[in-house]
Amino acid sequence: MADKASLTIGDKNFDYPVMSGSVGPDVIDIRKLYGQTDVFTYDPGFTSTASCQSQITYIDGDAGILLHRGYPIDQLAEQSNFMEVSYLLLNGELPGSDELEQFTRTITRHTMLHEQLATFYRGFRRDAHPMAIMCGVVGALSAFYHDSTDITDPRQRMIASHRLIAKMPTIAAMAYKYSVGQPFLYPQNDLSYTGNFLRMTFGVPAEPYEVNPIIEKAMDRIFILHADHEQNASTSTVRLAGSSGANPFACIAAGIACLWGPAHGGANEAALNMLREIGRPERIPEYIARAKDKDDPFRLMGFGHRVYKNFDPRAKVMQQTATEVLDDLGISDPVLDTARELAEIALKDDYFIEKKLYPNVDFYSGVILSAIGFPTTMFTALFALARTVGWVAQWNEMIADPEQKIGRPRQLYTGPTQRDYVPVGKR
Ligand code: SDX
Repeated sequence: MADKASLTIGDKNFDYPVMSGSVGPDVIDIRKLYGQTDVFTYDPGFTSTASCQSQITYIDGDAGILLHRGYPIDQLAEQSNFMEVSYLLLNGELPGSDELEQFTRTITRHTMLHEQLATFYRGFRRDAHPMAIMCGVVGALSAFYHDSTDITDPRQRMIASHRLIAKMPTIAAMAYKYSVGQPFLYPQNDLSYTGNFLRMTFGVPAEPYEVNPIIEKAMDRIFILHADHEQNASTSTVRLAGSSGANPFACIAAGIACLWGPAHGGANEAALNMLREIGRPERIPEYIARAKDKDDPFRLMGFGHRVYKNFDPRAKVMQQTATEVLDDLGISDPVLDTARELAEIALKDDYFIEKKLYPNVDFYSGVILSAIGFPTTMFTALFALARTVGWVAQWNEMIADPEQKIGRPRQLYTGPTQRDYVPVGKR
């Protein structure tokens, strides 16, 4: 690739350096463009814009490749666990056994919430969406953990990161318990990260809770599949919030708010609701037609992706996990048959082939989560739980980046040019 890009504006020529990463597209460094040319670039949705340099996650959308610190997602899903992947995302290397044990112990010991935070839940209606609760409670953490809000102190940044990773399962489980009117369960330190979450969610004080190893492994793998994904909308939100110097708890609350949208993390809830609405394979053609109809706002939820123009590698692992979990649990859910049939038909349809639309991470996840016993309203909260490690890893990387400055995009202004105020009696 060339080492510079030339731009001609009118009768003037401008050269900009081309930068190369370790893999993937080169970038044109246009940081001096406005100062030299008085023009902005225009890229709504940032489809052609690299917002930062990062060493955490690499996606090749055409090849359907996803690497976390260089390790393929299918290998991590198959051979690793969420605590180990969390360490990898945060620190850049897979941990040795002592490092993993130390990290897991640290996370385990941060799983309890300040007791007063439990009163926050009682301020919500019982039918509050868990994501509304997550936004509120996670943002409120900054009112309780003042000793880890100084972002200039690497030690405080790491404590806040550990607290967020550790407390998200507790916060999410409490949101579920509150919605079903059951008492909160405290974390139990002799359980795994994922086992502890399952017990806090589905256990009751009235009897012991046995963690089902099949469900524990499936849930842990689902957490791995959702852990990080480059500069997606919610991660970019966390980075932008962090660029102003906001405390980590406020930044993650902003990421949760962005993830909630049905075009992003909210798609897992929307996808299962869509599959249930379709109900039977015979109704699939009707929904395929609606998804293709430009005049119909309906989109096939769990399908398509800004970056993947091939199979989302996470969707492949998720589909295989859905089959395994339902078989192991002896559950036959017609929704999985509908999902498979829908994917098969769509992938043969010219519209989806031409627009390179494939199932994404959200297409099959709901089938598994439903089989485990989660209501659809909890699906995006689970996505937020898992993505927190990616958000804090990207936030730490941004804070430590010497090139980092407050994010402040410009615009193409198309509004009224200057005009004088007219008093109301003269309008
Ligand atoms: C996540 O960014 C990430 O990395 C996100 C994520 C992560 O881990 O953080 O991977 C998680 O958010 C996955 C995506 C979940 N969202 C959904 O499943 C909702 C349904 N999908 C669409 O809304 C859509 O595909 C998006 C939002 C995911 C991507 O939107 P884009 O970038 O606008 O899609 P595109 O430009 O590739 O679309 C190309 C064409 C368009 O038609 P034209 O304007 O060219 O005529 O395909 C159409 C789109 O209208 N299209 C769809 C479609 N997705 C795109 N048509 C029908 N059904 C769909 N699902």
